[in-house]
Amino acid sequence: KPLVFSGVQPTGNLHLGNYLGAIQRFVALQDSHDCIYCVVDLHAITLPQDPVELVRTTREVTAAFIAAGVDPTKHIVFNQSRVSGHAELAWIFNCVARLGWLNRMTQFKEKAGKDRENASIGLYDYPVLMAADILVYRATHVPVGEDQKQHLELARDIAQKFNLDFGPSIAAHGHTDHFFPLPEPLIQGAATRVMSLREGSKKMSKSDPSDNSRINLTDDADAIALKIRRAKTDPDALPSEIEGLEGRPEAANLVGIFAALAGRTKADVLGQYGGGQFSQFKTALADLAVEKLSPIAAEMKRLQADPGHIDAVLKDGGERAGTLAAETIAAVKDIVGLLR
Ligand code: AMP
Ligand code: TRP
Repeated sequence: KPLVFSGVQPTGNLHLGNYLGAIQRFVALQDSHDCIYCVVDLHAITLPQDPVELVRTTREVTAAFIAAGVDPTKHIVFNQSRVSGHAELAWIFNCVARLGWLNRMTQFKEKAGKDRENASIGLYDYPVLMAADILVYRATHVPVGEDQKQHLELARDIAQKFNLDFGPSIAAHGHTDHFFPLPEPLIQGAATRVMSLREGSKKMSKSDPSDNSRINLTDDADAIALKIRRAKTDPDALPSEIEGLEGRPEAANLVGIFAALAGRTKADVLGQYGGGQFSQFKTALADLAVEKLSPIAAEMKRLQADPGHIDAVLKDGGERAGTLAAETIAAVKDIVGLLR
C-alpha cells in the first residue's frame, strides 16, 4: 500500500518555495494516500539553533501544514524527535551507508561552506537520518522539491543495500526480500525549484540574507505585492510559448510560480499573458499570490495563538507515528541480530 512521508525543517522563514515545492503537494496527496508529515527538528539542529526559537519554529511549521490544508486527524503530523525510531534506524543505516556515498552529497558541501573541518558530524550524516525518516515507516512516496532529489537517491541506495546485505536474515524472519521499499521522490508541479526573486540563478532559501529574495508565508499582502513588483526581470515582454522562456530564468521563475499557485500549466499561463507587458503580469501574479497566501498566513496566526492545541496535535501524531515506527524497529532488530 502506498504511504507518503515528507519532512520540513523548523528553521524559520518558511517561504513560497517550501509551499509550492512541498507543503502544497502534501495537501494534494491527502485524498489518495495515507500521509505522514514531519517537522524534522533533529535535522534542524545539524546547524546551530537557538532553543527558544526552535520551539517557536516547530510550532510555526506545524501551523503552516494545518493552515495550508493538511488534516492531522486523517493523517499524521508530528515532530521527528518525539519518535526515537528515527534516530535508532539512522544509527543502523550509518553502518550500511558508505563514506563514498555521503562524500558526493552536494547539499553538505554547500551548507558546510569553506570551513568543512568545522561542520558538525550531524550535518554530514543528515541524508542518512533522512533515509531513516522515510524508511522507518517503509514509506513509498516522498513529495519534495527538486533540491532533495540526491538525498532520495541515497535513501534508495541505503534501502537496497540493507535488503541485499541482510537478505538471508530478512527471509529467515519471514519477510519478503524487499523489506525496505525503494522510496520514490514525487517532484511535481510547475514550481519544484522556486528561485530567488533577486537572482534567477539562486534558489529561494530560508537563509538568504535578503528578505526581498523570498516571499515568506507570513508576509502580509503589501509585502507580497511589493516583493513581486520589485522582482528582478529582463526588459523583454513575456513570450507566448514555453520555449521563449529559455535563457530567461527570472521570467521562467515567475511564470512557474503563477502556474503552481493557479494550478495551471506554464503553457496555459503564457497563452493568457504572453506578448503582454511584464508589469501587467506582475500585477496579476501579485493578486494571485495574495489571494492564495493571505488565508494561510491568517490561519497560521490564529493557530499559533493557541500553542497548546498545536502541541496536542504533535503529541497525538507522535504517538501514532511511534506505534508504526516501533514495528519496523522491532523487525530490523531481529533482522540485524540485535536482541530485544
Ligand atoms: P527545508 O526548508 O529545507 O526543510 O525544505 C522543505 C521542503 O521544501 C523540501 O521538500 C524542499 O525540497 C522544499 N524546498 C525548499 N526550497 C525550495 C525551493 N526554492 N523551491 C522548491 N522547493 C523547495
Ligand atoms: N532534507 C529535507 C529538506 O531539507 C527535509 C527532510 C528531512 C525530509 N527528512 C525528510 C524530506 C524525509 C522528505 C523526507 O528539505
